[in-house]
Amino acid sequence: MNLVFLGPPGAGKGTMASRLAEEMGIPHISTGDMFRAAMARGTELGLKAKAIMEAGDLVPDELTIAMVRERLDEPDARNGYILDGFPRTIPQAEALDGFATIDRAVRFELAEDQLVRRLSGRRVHKPSGRIYHVDFSPPKEPGKDDATGEPLIQRDDDKEDAIRNRLKVYHEQTAPLVSYYEKKGMLTTIDASPRPDAVYEALKKALE
Ligand code: AP5
Repeated sequence: MNLVFLGPPGAGKGTMASRLAEEMGIPHISTGDMFRAAMARGTELGLKAKAIMEAGDLVPDELTIAMVRERLDEPDARNGYILDGFPRTIPQAEALDGFATIDRAVRFELAEDQLVRRLSGRRVHKPSGRIYHVDFSPPKEPGKDDATGEPLIQRDDDKEDAIRNRLKVYHEQTAPLVSYYEKKGMLTTIDASPRPDAVYEALKKALE
């Protein structure tokens, strides 16, 4: 199954995508994670993306589309994948339709005050991408990854100014994708407000 996960920053797309991808044995393809990996490696793409991401703006469509197109050509994507955070603009969705066949777009819906709470409390283990929350999914030992004991960090774009801009960018540029997929009869909406296990069960049921 080829899936697109849509929704505002902090709705839980990454948390659900990594769990479902593992259970289905398909890759979880997060454009945010790919840009962050490029930044960590100091590649040309990473250097271009750094300031844009820290401000909470979108990386230009042509760079993002080329990166995803190349990723979907890799052998592990032949039996399905979950796209998390792509497409994020109408031109990206139109480009995707030219080189992939998407089965469903899943939209995670959550009120703005909860989004801000989730983003400001998020902590991540950078090497693995494991996601925690100081209140909702705390690590066993505060500030440390459960598996390795290594330190957890706060993403640069999880600071207040960047969060505000990311939400604005979402409403202006990404929210129109909801009707894009709705018109095609491909949209499933999930209430992302319950606890993670309940959201996951609702997601699996919706995809049956
Ligand atoms: P990206 O990394 O994609 O960030 P995002 O879309 O803003 O999404 P997030 O990762 O912030 O949120 P999420 O919905 O995955 O939530 P999570 O599961 O972590 O993009 C970052 C940047 O990269 C962009 O701003 C842009 O610059 C660039 N970029 C990426 N893709 C691009 C594209 N296509 N085009 C152009 N630029 C692009 O959960 C959040 C927190 O909530 C966690 O702490 C988690 O533990 C907690 N949580 C999750 N579920 C629950 C629950 N049910 N109950 C309670 N807590 C929960």
